[in-house]
Amino acid sequence: MLVLGMMSGTSADGIDVALARISGAPPNLNVKLLGHTSVKFPPALRKEILRIAEQHAITAGAVSQLNFRVGELFAGAAMSACRKFRIASKKIALIGSHGQTIFHQGKCVTFLGRPTASTLQIGEPAIIAARTGISTIGDFRPADIALGGQGAPLVPYADYLLYRHPKLGRVSLNLGGIANITVLPAAAKPQQVFAFDTGPANMLIDALVAHFTRGRQRFDENARLASQGRSLPALLDDLLRDPYLKLVPPKSTGREYYGHAYLKKLFTLGRRHRAKPNDLIRAATIFTALSVVDALNRFVLRKTKIHQLIVSGGGARNPLILAQLSAALPGIEVLPSSRLGIPEDAKEAFAFALLAYETYHQRPANLPSATGARGPAILGKISYAPPR
Ligand SMILES: Nc1ncnc2c1ncn2[C@@H]1O[C@H](COP(=O)(O)OP(=O)(O)O)[C@@H](O)[C@H]1O
Ligand SMILES: [Mg+2]
Repeated sequence: MLVLGMMSGTSADGIDVALARISGAPPNLNVKLLGHTSVKFPPALRKEILRIAEQHAITAGAVSQLNFRVGELFAGAAMSACRKFRIASKKIALIGSHGQTIFHQGKCVTFLGRPTASTLQIGEPAIIAARTGISTIGDFRPADIALGGQGAPLVPYADYLLYRHPKLGRVSLNLGGIANITVLPAAAKPQQVFAFDTGPANMLIDALVAHFTRGRQRFDENARLASQGRSLPALLDDLLRDPYLKLVPPKSTGREYYGHAYLKKLFTLGRRHRAKPNDLIRAATIFTALSVVDALNRFVLRKTKIHQLIVSGGGARNPLILAQLSAALPGIEVLPSSRLGIPEDAKEAFAFALLAYETYHQRPANLPSATGARGPAILGKISYAPPR
């Protein structure tokens, strides 16, 4: 079966698309990534997504309109992927579309007097199905929340299928806007997989770069700016006192915490330590790497022998992050995911192709050990393609 997976993460930089050929059923699932591509969001739309993801005011009408507009963009991304891969859309059996998260509250909080958890991904699947003629599964997270889980992370199911190894302990690290890890002990059973968000990945770096370049640059390509900064160990020590790092997993975070409010905190710390712009970008970059190392030391390496750290997401292209990880994790091989056949930018989109395939076959694809759900859930909702 040919399946397209689509994903846009917390960076809201654009839509990643992966084409996969999948057959069989776990534990004998055969998956092959056939191609991947990425489509940028128009700047005005990205700005609006970031604004509402920071929980600024928006009307229900605007949310509804945005949901359909983002659906059109995802549909366009699917069609341009088909052109790029030179494949007729009618040969593709299924799309799995994660959509764009604009709100995620995985843990219950009091809302109108009652404990409530919820999540909202936009990018209307009915639009995608209608425009592409391909049945589309979206809204993967609510089914897990409905069973008391946090609705995240969902990629660990794919990590388990793709990376589990009989002899090697592995950690899969995705560096999107936020950094998250999936821990796969050697010869792991599904119940032994655990996963959580370690803290920021590119979110702080991107925000600093956009600020200091007045929006001319969106991110620190190949760590060029960070490499020109000085190291300020005292500033780094202050950053590493971040209370999020000490929270015991399962835990997840996002723009609500590492967004604008955190940026203000960075500026305050920067002034206190007399940091120049590039010094601050460097500190945020090293902090990103060391917050992952801190999570591994605190919650993983004491109990589990790890041989390899497999890195994906846009942050895997940041040489300073990778160098810091390698230096701080002696005895662990740090590998970009492309070394195992999955390009860094394709990994999460590929995962949603896999999750859609499982849903299509009515099989659960959450890992309760990762999300905290009471049990297995069949994820997502299906929007059928119009009859031909
Ligand atoms: N060459 C590069 N050098 C440094 N950082 C990069 C590079 N390419 C991508 N990135 C970072 O990766 C981010 C996008 O990563 P991505 O995995 O798409 O995150 P998300 O899942 O949150 O959308 C960009 O915003 C940027 O910070
Ligand atoms: Mg992205």
